[in-house]
Amino acid sequence: MKKQTIRPAKSINGGIELPGDKSISHRYGMLAGIAQGTSELRHFSAAADCHSTLACMRALGAEVKIAKDVVRVTGKGPHGLQAPRKVLDAGNSGTTIRLLSGILAGQNFSATISGDASLQKRPMKRIVGPLRQMGADIQAREEQFAPLAISGAKLHAISYEMPMASAQVKSSVLLAGLFADGVTKVIEPARTRDHTELALEEFGAQIEHHGLTTTVHGLSSADHGHGTLTGRALDVPGDISSAVFFIAAASLFPESSLLIHNVGLNPTRTAILDFFLSMGAWIKTPSLRTAHGEVVGDLAVKGATLRGGIIQGDTVPLLIDELPMLAALGPFTEEGIEIRDAAELRVKESDRIAALAENLRRMGAQVDERPDGLRVEGRKAGKLHGAEIEPHGDHRIAMAFAIAGLAAEGRTIIRDADCAGVSFPAFYEELERLAQR
Ligand code: S3P
Repeated sequence: MKKQTIRPAKSINGGIELPGDKSISHRYGMLAGIAQGTSELRHFSAAADCHSTLACMRALGAEVKIAKDVVRVTGKGPHGLQAPRKVLDAGNSGTTIRLLSGILAGQNFSATISGDASLQKRPMKRIVGPLRQMGADIQAREEQFAPLAISGAKLHAISYEMPMASAQVKSSVLLAGLFADGVTKVIEPARTRDHTELALEEFGAQIEHHGLTTTVHGLSSADHGHGTLTGRALDVPGDISSAVFFIAAASLFPESSLLIHNVGLNPTRTAILDFFLSMGAWIKTPSLRTAHGEVVGDLAVKGATLRGGIIQGDTVPLLIDELPMLAALGPFTEEGIEIRDAAELRVKESDRIAALAENLRRMGAQVDERPDGLRVEGRKAGKLHGAEIEPHGDHRIAMAFAIAGLAAEGRTIIRDADCAGVSFPAFYEELERLAQR
């Protein structure tokens, strides 16, 4: 397990292109596998998570060819997948297991899906419940954890009012809805990322979206069912959740000037930019365009004095993956950072609230840990010092503290640093390239 040393920096300068968006890559990879014909997915994510999705689709009979960041998937059509010979391995990826379970629920075979030790601790009842309501037979370890043994069935459409704001749960039900007889409806308690809806539309499914309600028509439903999905050539934009580490890094130093190319700026993902701007960050989006329903643009970032602030309520699901970086920025802000209403952070790739509190304290920050969030005191509580960081196998914890280490006194060491590869294999190399000393 590699340790990575982070030395203090003076500024972040230059240009960077990020790996393809993880959420979008998962969805394109899965839908291409159940579409008819060949899809060309360009700038597909380099993340280990998305490659877990591709390996699962291959194990289910789709043809997958990978040449750098271009992935060609020849699908078998919605009813052409085959029973896998082994347990499907979702690795560390919650998106893979939860979304793919929706697809497996509608097949005419049985399959078991599992993942690494962290994934086997994450809650699965949230998808098992609605998928069972649709008619799938699912056995979960202790009724709530992976491995999930899924016996596909002829599904029926449901109207599902989600108890929590989760794009993964919404997507799992919508994907199962493709195989259901009739119109499946999902009602969210708060807005979450809508990449599944946009991707379904691209591949030719019939889908409607009004406020917090999304409906999908079963592919073979008598009313409006389009019968099949069709392979597409699609470009994946850069991942805004990876961009955030570099936005944070550049913001920390007055002399920084960074250009991040081709970032996905879907409005259900840009709450993080609004929050940075509300803190006084210098971020400009010189050009915007739309590709396959997704908004894409470049981001220019310069150094700024960050005020800090509170993140709570319906904003939380819109920047859930960015909260580790924001918390780790807290000690560098004027007023500190406070996160509320985010108990979900405790069931991510690690217990992120505990991991943030532990590592922030190692660096000398003042932290008040709470059941649903934390308060991190700002600059007045003192400067951070380098420390040895324990990411608990969580990519976003490792990357957040690598950035904090750039502005701390002395060296920071990230244990098990390779876990960053779950979303961003070239993270440390790119950071070294841009960091001026
Ligand atoms: C994701 C949704 C979010 C997010 C995860 C990716 C997705 O999870 O944290 O990293 O691609 O749908 P939840 O839906 O569980 O909040």
